[in-house]
Amino acid sequence: MLSKTMEKALNEQINAEFYSSYMYLSMSTWFDSAGLPGAGKWMQAQTQEELFHGMKLLGYLNERGGRVTLKAIKQPPVDWDSTLHVFQEVLTHEQKVTELINKLVTMALAEKDHASNIFLQWFVSEQVEEEANVSAVLNKLKLIGKDTTALFTLDETLGQRVFTPPPAAGK
Ligand code: FEO
Repeated sequence: MLSKTMEKALNEQINAEFYSSYMYLSMSTWFDSAGLPGAGKWMQAQTQEELFHGMKLLGYLNERGGRVTLKAIKQPPVDWDSTLHVFQEVLTHEQKVTELINKLVTMALAEKDHASNIFLQWFVSEQVEEEANVSAVLNKLKLIGKDTTALFTLDETLGQRVFTPPPAAGK
């Protein structure tokens, strides 16, 4: 049986993941209107990934007999200064999410909630990957600087990203 504290914390994380999804959707539309559809597609894949994270948490909460309580999703930013600025914000955001996940793991350990600890390990690894993916794009953008041709080439590469749910989807 999940503790009420863990139930509340997991519900907050569901909200954080759905907010992430919404924020990346906002970034996606910003890129589309800025003439960078590849980056827009990259952000759409990110949107789907975050939705998957939220649903994965939701499934777990249900499975453990917890009560899912969906809360309002706050409005995401709608404007950024540049492509570099967007990706900097993504990295900052993912670092915050990593902190949230780490706090959940600390809570699971303190409560000796082994099932939640095991479940959350997937998210720990996922955050390492998420931060690495964003950092890789950010590093390229820093190298590109104001070179528009190089930016368009990167945009084409970013546009190849497709979200594929892991095999154990929903678990
Ligand atoms: Fe679900 Fe990007 O953290």
